[in-house]
Amino acid sequence: MPVRTIASPVGPLRIVVDDGQLRALDFVEDSTPLDHGDADDTLDEAERQLVAYFEGTLRSFDLPLAPIGTDFQQRVWQELRHIPYGETRTYADIARALGRPSATRAVGAANGRNPLAIVVPCHRVIGSDGTLTGYAGGLHRKTALLALERPTSQEDLFARPAPRTVPYTPERLPIEEGVDRLRARYEHADRRRSVRQFSTDPVPREAIELAIAIAGTAPSGAHRQPWHFVAISDPTLKRTVREAAESEERRFYEERASEEWLKALEPLGTDFHKEHITDAPWLIVAFRRDVEVIDGRRTNNYYVSESVGIAVGMLIAALHEAGLATLTHTPAPMTFLRDLLGRPKEEKPYVLMPVGWPAPGCRVPDLRRKALAEIATFL
Ligand SMILES: Cc1cc2nc3c(=O)[nH]c(=O)nc-3n(C[C@H](O)[C@H](O)[C@H](O)COP(=O)(O)O)c2cc1C
Repeated sequence: MPVRTIASPVGPLRIVVDDGQLRALDFVEDSTPLDHGDADDTLDEAERQLVAYFEGTLRSFDLPLAPIGTDFQQRVWQELRHIPYGETRTYADIARALGRPSATRAVGAANGRNPLAIVVPCHRVIGSDGTLTGYAGGLHRKTALLALERPTSQEDLFARPAPRTVPYTPERLPIEEGVDRLRARYEHADRRRSVRQFSTDPVPREAIELAIAIAGTAPSGAHRQPWHFVAISDPTLKRTVREAAESEERRFYEERASEEWLKALEPLGTDFHKEHITDAPWLIVAFRRDVEVIDGRRTNNYYVSESVGIAVGMLIAALHEAGLATLTHTPAPMTFLRDLLGRPKEEKPYVLMPVGWPAPGCRVPDLRRKALAEIATFL
């Protein structure tokens, strides 16, 4: 039988179809993986209607149903389908409607065995005293479904839709193995250095694509992912970037930088010459996006600097993992990069990063990193 497990605001739902008719629709464990299952028109239609129901745009399902049950159960389930969206009935109401006013308990039992959750709205049946009584899918789901259908207060009218969730079950490593991995990772991370002399050897585009894809997995404020990366290998464009960067940097070193700043840069031996921009086979320019246009409206992004910083950190770590070197380069100001690279005005250049292999004989400043005790406090 065609089966599909879909996500919903009340947890994963499993849809079972038999011969073009809906046989079962039930709640499954939160950890159940989503599964598109077989190609089937009824499954597609059921999924479409459920999505619309949870979006609040569908109030009554129109699907061929084939629940399996006794005659009495079938009559109860049929009656449940007459309860309008957003309303509730008591078990006694249903028993009366069936002409069996004393069969309240039997109605309750049949209600509890409803194999077609949501579509046959057994969640709309409550106790005579107005309490929710029970629900096969758990009372929290009954509450959520009723709230979705019937905003009861001004506050509910403006209630935010429940977030859609999916199961998250990453592999749980034995902690000893985790610590071993961290130790190896630290040793490798500690060997990373910013490089200012690059080999001109080419680096395949795939390596750059994968590293940027890794950066794109970074966490971000309100999941706005407020970044854009431009990767340049074109030699003419690199030269243009270098010339513009060097002219800005020359002004920085000769006019704008304070004595204190120049002193801080002394151990690095940097000046306005930026051969690395043309030598490195790739330049990656990260842009920050402070505003986003969503559904035609401009909205602010949140924690942009932090989010882009984390993404760029992941980019540097990923490239280092691949044996490649980077330079975190921030010519000041960098706005020339936006125009040069044809980026929209809501984007600001964040960092210019040459990427490649260190040149033969490459040397780096003799720096010491702070020890753990200097950068961390354990309480
Ligand atoms: C935000 C930021 C901006 C930087 N800007 C420059 C730069 O414009 N030019 C440069 O040569 N290095 C720049 N660096 C590189 C630092 O000088 C370098 O990371 C630091 O000296 C430590 O060296 P390491 O990366 O080899 O550990 C920058 C680093 C950061 C994090």
